[in-house]
Amino acid sequence: MNNTINDVRSAFLDYFIKQGHTHVPSASLLPVNDPTLLFVNSGMAPFKDVFTGVETRPYTRATTAQKCVRLGGKHNDLDNVGFTARHHTFFEMLGNFSFGDYFKEFAIHAAWNLLTKEFGLPIEKLLVTIYASDDEAAALWKKIGGLSDNKIIRIDNDDNFWRMGDLGPCGPSSEIFFDHGDHIAGGPPGSSDQDGDRFVEIWNLVFMQYNQITPDEMQPLPKFCIDTGSGIERLAAALQGKSDNYDTDLLRSLILASADLTKVDPDGALKSSHRVVADHVRTSAFLLADGVTPGNEGRGYVLRRVMRRAMRHAHLLGAKDPLMYRLVPELVTLMGAAYPELIRAQPFIMETLRLEETRFRQTLDRGLKLLGDEIGKLTSGAPLPGEVAFRLYDTYGFPIDLTQDALRSRDISVDLVGFNDAMAKQKALARESWVGSGDLATSKVWFDLRDEFGSTEFMGYETEAASANVTGIVVDGARSNEARESDIVQITLNQTPFYAESGGQVGDSGQLKLEDGSVVDVTNTVKELGQLWVHRGTVVKGNVKVGDKVRAIVDSKRRAAIRANHSATHLLHEALRERFGDHIAQKGSLVAPDRLRFDFSHPMPLTSEDLTTIEAEVNRQIRGNSEVTTRIMSLAEAQGSGARALFGEKYGDEVRVVAMGTPTRSDHAAYSVELCGGTHVRRTGDIGLLKVTGESSVGSGVRRIEALTGEGALTYANKLISLVRAIGSNLGISTDEQILTHVVQLQEQIKSKDNTIRQLRIDSLKASTASPCIRDIGGVKFDVRVGDWPVPDLRRMADEMKKSIGSGVVALISTAEGKASVVIGVTPDLVGELDAVHLAKVAAEAFGGKGGGGRSDLAQAGGPDATRTSNAVEALTRAIEFKA
Ligand code: ALA
Repeated sequence: MNNTINDVRSAFLDYFIKQGHTHVPSASLLPVNDPTLLFVNSGMAPFKDVFTGVETRPYTRATTAQKCVRLGGKHNDLDNVGFTARHHTFFEMLGNFSFGDYFKEFAIHAAWNLLTKEFGLPIEKLLVTIYASDDEAAALWKKIGGLSDNKIIRIDNDDNFWRMGDLGPCGPSSEIFFDHGDHIAGGPPGSSDQDGDRFVEIWNLVFMQYNQITPDEMQPLPKFCIDTGSGIERLAAALQGKSDNYDTDLLRSLILASADLTKVDPDGALKSSHRVVADHVRTSAFLLADGVTPGNEGRGYVLRRVMRRAMRHAHLLGAKDPLMYRLVPELVTLMGAAYPELIRAQPFIMETLRLEETRFRQTLDRGLKLLGDEIGKLTSGAPLPGEVAFRLYDTYGFPIDLTQDALRSRDISVDLVGFNDAMAKQKALARESWVGSGDLATSKVWFDLRDEFGSTEFMGYETEAASANVTGIVVDGARSNEARESDIVQITLNQTPFYAESGGQVGDSGQLKLEDGSVVDVTNTVKELGQLWVHRGTVVKGNVKVGDKVRAIVDSKRRAAIRANHSATHLLHEALRERFGDHIAQKGSLVAPDRLRFDFSHPMPLTSEDLTTIEAEVNRQIRGNSEVTTRIMSLAEAQGSGARALFGEKYGDEVRVVAMGTPTRSDHAAYSVELCGGTHVRRTGDIGLLKVTGESSVGSGVRRIEALTGEGALTYANKLISLVRAIGSNLGISTDEQILTHVVQLQEQIKSKDNTIRQLRIDSLKASTASPCIRDIGGVKFDVRVGDWPVPDLRRMADEMKKSIGSGVVALISTAEGKASVVIGVTPDLVGELDAVHLAKVAAEAFGGKGGGGRSDLAQAGGPDATRTSNAVEALTRAIEFKA
């Protein structure tokens, strides 16, 4: 073993696995179980609820190499990075954990054994600290390590009482220090020069005993636990004989890569800049891999700050082109095996870094020039005015810590009060101009909430459940501190996994659960002011107050169905373009859990062949099961790459581009590339199946396709199959293919039988003697017959009668279904003398009806009262007799 970082990580984990620990892979840097934490900042953070007993796991011993970021909040190392030997914004924390299993003795024993026996660190170079009153730990160190009193240093302050944050599990700790030797400046822990680099803490053993539940109240944990943490670079430094973490193999490789690309001495005057770049590129890459994207608020802004701070240092190194993204391949080579998410996200990381760096370089020079000019105006010892720092921030994109960092070497501070005032003034102006835009419906409530708490952090691309704090409750349009059972509420949270309705995708539903058992059912999520996620629903149990911690849980089955429908919509869009061409433009869409709808411009209806081809192509793409990727790009770049955007839609400078499917055009990287903020499946195969259920028109030149995916599509298909089978079994046919042939045959048989029946009726009529016979009325033959004939047959029957009578008038009266229908026929020789339409009218009147229609030789009419047959015959006789 060479004690490389990768060796140390494996050796540590293997050692604890052998001691009965479960190796748990590193959790995401996004803390899904804690609303107060910006990023996971220690190995124990993902286990926080296990310590407090809220969550149980199938193991009581665990070991991890956990990704940690210390930026913002209680543990923030940003300012130190680059200037000390042992601070990083990102690091891996190696740890072993006991959840009510072993306690102090085994923890001390295991750590000591690993360090001194397995890793072979010389005992005389180690010393420990303990919490001042922890006699038990002192005794154990003597017993296990054989340490003398002067190597067990009692510390009576918070340095040896570890807390994850202001609240949460905590307890006294015992730290193991490594002495790098008297050639390095610094004193032992507890001494006045303890901050030097000679004595470095390499492992912290925390004896978790309490839970800080409010700032003033600490409760004992249900079971005593162990949480330990060893920063991998610090441990590796001791093992590699280096006194500086940045000289250990991994960071050194990154520094050398930076030196190689910039051609600047890695150990010269600009050494700190190489270190900042190496540290920050690693932090940025890991945050990007976990789904944090650079933005102007919250986590995204923290990431942007880190990137920009590094970019200024790249600038100091004289890098002519974007530098950071070119270091990513080296980082992936070094860490990709242990953290495969880096390999998966490598293109995304590189593109995002390149984009950010390209854009920032456009203002960096000008900002630095302004800064230089302003420094020139300062009297010695005066801080940089807040208004200048704000201008740098607002116009040149200089995060405040970048300005502070740039002033550091000159010992100039920034007037932060002035900076914050300028920021507040700008916010007030923005609000006025929004209200001035006349959008009165946008309530003041949302502005107030946004100003107080900032915009909501959306975590829903990465997770479907997360802890969050309630920042606002709105009942009946007004803010309220509390809501009770059955209240209809709108709730805002500091962060949320719920997707808010936009871009055709419906809002998420789910639940907000409180630790006391209270529950809010969320039926929909919407966005206010473009930045505030509002959870609409009802308190179904207990009550909820502003400030409460909730577990926000998205209805995951519903979300999965929505995801499938959204991705299928993208594939459908592309399949339509492939078939019809580029005039196909999206005119609207609905992505719901149970269906999807896609409206698009196209001048004519789709044929069934069109639909079959499109559906087949989408399903081919689904079966291709390619990965769905999302990337952040500048709008111009996205459009240049051929990504589909919605005409008339407002996009920001940076857009999210979703790509999926196997490309069918050689110049495309994926089948479908669209600007989209929605949630999508991981791989196209997750869609399962697409079934088009309808095609219709929704206005001129706009068509609509409705479709189902996944389970919905299957259910639909199964329903149709059952129907076909039921038809088959009624017909006594077992093979599906024969059903259609059989049905066609049946239809033909029915048709021919209908013809036979009709003919038989006519024949029987001819032969019939049942009805009144032919009369002679003043020389005109009048053949009238009454029966229960089907009305549609009457005309053909009348024609036959006309033929057989030769010359005269025929009347057919059908009394089927209680109504009377009459057909009158006049032979051609009498047309002119007698009018069939008139006669039909005469008969109809007798039946209590009106009117009549047809030609003068054949007409039809009817009336409601079928009992008046003899009156009708009488009236017709008279009308023929008097030719009137
Ligand atoms: N949680 C402890 C730390 O981070 C081990 O130092």
